[in-house]
Amino acid sequence: MARPKVLVTHGLFEAARNLLEKNFETDYWTEHDHIPREELLKRVADKDALVCLLTEKVNEELLAVAPRLRIAATVSVGFDNLDVPACTRHKVAATNTPGVLDDTTADTAWLIMMAVARRLAEAEAWLRAGTWPGWDLDQLCGADIWGKTLGIVGFGRIGREMARRAKGFRMRTLYHDAVRVASEIESKFAAEFVSFDRLLLESDFITLHVPLLPTTRHLMNAQTLAKMKRSAFLVNTSRGPVVDEAALAEALKAGTIAGAALDVFEFEPNVSPELRALKNVVLTPHIGSASIETRTRMAVVAADNVVALFEGRRPPTILNPEVLSTKQAAQS
Ligand code: DGY
Repeated sequence: MARPKVLVTHGLFEAARNLLEKNFETDYWTEHDHIPREELLKRVADKDALVCLLTEKVNEELLAVAPRLRIAATVSVGFDNLDVPACTRHKVAATNTPGVLDDTTADTAWLIMMAVARRLAEAEAWLRAGTWPGWDLDQLCGADIWGKTLGIVGFGRIGREMARRAKGFRMRTLYHDAVRVASEIESKFAAEFVSFDRLLLESDFITLHVPLLPTTRHLMNAQTLAKMKRSAFLVNTSRGPVVDEAALAEALKAGTIAGAALDVFEFEPNVSPELRALKNVVLTPHIGSASIETRTRMAVVAADNVVALFEGRRPPTILNPEVLSTKQAAQS
């Protein structure tokens, strides 16, 4: 019997490839650059499954040319690249990779938060330039993190991992989310629910962990940035468009806030020249989940979803279970 065909838009990792190769006829895009849109549309046309990256949009245009497609599995937790309602209309299962990258992403947020507060990039650049004159008392003094107030926007898995780390740094933790979590979770993570305004006004560090939705686009804008303390720092490892980048550059130049640490950008892969020119920012190229272990886990979760669907099981991290048969949907 012919095996189902899967298009994979990246070489993936061996563990994920092994899962797919046991069950599918595989077609990998292995070029260094991302698959061009035209090529994606051409190759997906006769496929039963698609494993893609956050850089590929699965929308009406793609779904219309892929009549056999039954699943689109993105190797990312953020799924703003998938038009989930369109997938549902085409009876295509949409899946993402939650739960396996929380610690690694929180580690990255923590890393860049410390880097901007303690001026790591400036310090390292100075040393590498060979012009450091030696130790001095008031040289490169930054801001402490320990004992300060951390404001977490979005208290899902990654947000909570930030709260867990904050305990070790003896910080006070505030959080804001559309939904307040149960009091046991608040106690476990020593986090206090506050209004978004209060979080803006009281936090020394604000870290963003929300998905990109119409309601979170430009959540940080000229008005909200103006409410932050002048001594406060903004950290973003979620999605670039959650921050109005032009407004942020203005706020940083004007001293409205002290600094920013950004791993994601509004117009990736472009980063505004204004931000790149500033000293009080730390910029990293979307490496939130970039450890070998975590990226492997993510690829395996995506492959598992595809395998499950074709074995008649419920894909473990399906976003639109309504496309499944009643029996598959009922599985947990
Ligand atoms: C995600 O998974 O959404 C990240 O942005 C990449 O790891």
